[in-house]
Amino acid sequence: MSTLLIVTASPRGDRSASRALTATFAELWARKHPADTVLLRDVGHHPVPHITEAWVVGAFAPTDAQTAESRAAIAVSDSLVEEFLSADRYVFGVPMYNFNVPSTFKAYLDQIVRAGKTFGFGPTGYEGLVKNKKALLITASGGAYAPGTPAAAMNFLEPYLRTIFGFIGLTDLHFITADSQAQGEDAARHATEIATNALKELAESW
Ligand SMILES: Cc1cc2nc3c(=O)[nH]c(=O)nc-3n(C[C@H](O)[C@H](O)[C@H](O)COP(=O)(O)O)c2cc1C
Repeated sequence: MSTLLIVTASPRGDRSASRALTATFAELWARKHPADTVLLRDVGHHPVPHITEAWVVGAFAPTDAQTAESRAAIAVSDSLVEEFLSADRYVFGVPMYNFNVPSTFKAYLDQIVRAGKTFGFGPTGYEGLVKNKKALLITASGGAYAPGTPAAAMNFLEPYLRTIFGFIGLTDLHFITADSQAQGEDAARHATEIATNALKELAESW
């Protein structure tokens, strides 16, 4: 029995490709693992706060420098970190915005990438503390960024996600992408079908 945390970042509802694919995977997963706990964190519809000065005080200043405001700001982060660390597996549904993650997802990452909690300092430098966990990253984009094409260099989304999750120790990442969502109905449908089939296969073996 394990805990699956699903984080969705599209601000859209029914029109969102990443949200639809994430929901498909969640359904397949729940069918196959009915005893698992599934947690939902919808930062697309319910954004978490951005980092403030009070947050920085809460995270880094000594106890006697804390204020009611800094304690409240860091309490939000503490509870998001606690939720994050309670999971064994993750599904992130993330649209590409301006070649990277939407700011709502970045705000979430800023809350959970925490010194002493999700990363530390080991004898050889920074050390990720999120070990032995897996993540599925379901991304959606208007264009297509296949490796080897000129557009691939503009895809900061996947390398960024690999970097930031790798930094906290989460290196077992599986990407499924519904690209071409703005390339006409046929291209979008085709890309979504390929992604759906990949999800179905993964739900059996992940
Ligand atoms: C503000 C904004 C920025 C976007 N930037 C990009 C981009 O840089 N590259 C791209 O291929 N598509 C871009 N798109 C298109 C989205 O990635 C595409 O619509 C995707 O399907 C959104 O995910 P969703 O369907 O889950 O909402 C952008 C869309 C919006 C609204």
